[in-house]
Amino acid sequence: MLTSRIVADRDFIVSPLDRRVFGTFVEHMGRCVYGGIYEPGHPTADANGLRGDVLALTRELGATIVRYPGGNFLSGYNWEDGVGPKAQRPTRLDLAWGSTETNQFGTNEFITWCKAAGVEPMFAVNLGTRGPDEARHFVEYCNHPGGTHYSDLRRAHGFEEPHGIKFWCLGNEMDGPWQICQKTAAEYGRVAQETAKVMRWVDPSITLTACGSSNRAMPTFGHWEHDVLERCFDQVDFISLHQYFRNDAGDIKSYFSVIEDLDCFIKEVAAIADAVAAKRRSPKRIMLSLDEWNVWYKAHNASDLRKPGWPRAPKLIEEVYNFEDALIVGGVLITLMNNADRVKAACLAQLVNVIGAIMTEEGGPAWRQTIFHPFAQASRFGRGNVLRTRIETESFQAAALQTLDNLLASVLHDEETGRVTLFALNRADQAMNISVELRGFGACEVMAAEMLHHDDLKAANTKLEPDAVAPRKMEASLHADVLRAAVQPHSWNVIVLKSGGNASSL
Ligand code: AHR
Repeated sequence: MLTSRIVADRDFIVSPLDRRVFGTFVEHMGRCVYGGIYEPGHPTADANGLRGDVLALTRELGATIVRYPGGNFLSGYNWEDGVGPKAQRPTRLDLAWGSTETNQFGTNEFITWCKAAGVEPMFAVNLGTRGPDEARHFVEYCNHPGGTHYSDLRRAHGFEEPHGIKFWCLGNEMDGPWQICQKTAAEYGRVAQETAKVMRWVDPSITLTACGSSNRAMPTFGHWEHDVLERCFDQVDFISLHQYFRNDAGDIKSYFSVIEDLDCFIKEVAAIADAVAAKRRSPKRIMLSLDEWNVWYKAHNASDLRKPGWPRAPKLIEEVYNFEDALIVGGVLITLMNNADRVKAACLAQLVNVIGAIMTEEGGPAWRQTIFHPFAQASRFGRGNVLRTRIETESFQAAALQTLDNLLASVLHDEETGRVTLFALNRADQAMNISVELRGFGACEVMAAEMLHHDDLKAANTKLEPDAVAPRKMEASLHADVLRAAVQPHSWNVIVLKSGGNASSL
């Protein structure tokens, strides 16, 4: 039996956690919108065609903010196509995914969906085929109260009150050769600066994110962030990171190392942003938005990305997640929480069907993929201050030159409710005794203890077996300020304590 020791002191705080790290992403791609969140005629659909079963699962997932409408789709999108009477909306070729876009779902439908789901919208403006002019008009359409062309157009479309969208992304993956109208860092940095400026002139209250590299493996990674921020530093609040995780070696030990890679990526981007700040002698800190992340490697062939004949809402990248993917997602969530001082937003890509946490069948049921569970638990219990813990654990050899800690953990303390929550990922193939020394919390008691474990790392949830991988209760005990739990090999564990006497019930 392995042993690991954690020390958590309520006074040693990394940062309060920004709940926007529990965001997801809805793109006009494959069956994410059509057949995912929107399916008129589905037995659970409401009068607006919004699938009730997907709405219920989105609420259960605990998504806080949802990015829309893309993704690569964004770089060819005209927002004007998706507003106004549906019969008059144009059908267009979507060059990003080789599909036909009917525009029957657009901005106002998405806002209606966000309200029903109880999430905040995160909108993106097209800086591929378009630029500052359309972006400023779009902010005017969404956020200006009335009395101008675009705000009155929104009112004429049935939305008297402004949508008040706060969080905006300036384009998507603009360094990628696959992007419609790819740009150099100099081209993008300049247009991002000017677009941000005019968007803010329309609505000074908005928060703006510049595009970082499409991923850490891009040849221009690092230079891109630096050169873009050199140009738009004064106008933006965030820089984005995108990362999809792969099990290339087909071996769980090396698969786990993607979590450390992400931690490096986060620290590298923060360092580059701070270097730009230092050169300007600026106290401003650019925050990080990991606005696309997930496991994605099984459904990554050319035929998964595009179907012939310009179909409407084809099945694209419908990755089926297994138990080991859920462990990776749990590890990523721990990493996001432990970097709470710089990562203030993140979006699991995507919400439904397309590398989705939720899967649906047309006219049929919706179910939770394995990765749904760690995300839902983290969102439910990941609240308050992230604590700077001390962790003593053994390590294992992941690759020739890489050793990884057996235990990854994050401890949060919610001062409002008195809850103390431990998220613990046991990456070892052996069971582990975990002890947590709790300092400064007063008397505590265990409120909930759940684990996600399956003997088969490849076990998946399917339509016929939707709960093959699901959280189960586990044992945890508290004696003299020490929490103890014996956790399964290869397991994700969540233990919630009540401290200080003012905790609400779960
Ligand atoms: O999420 C799928 C795609 O992955 C997005 O459209 C793009 O931004 C990324 O490359």
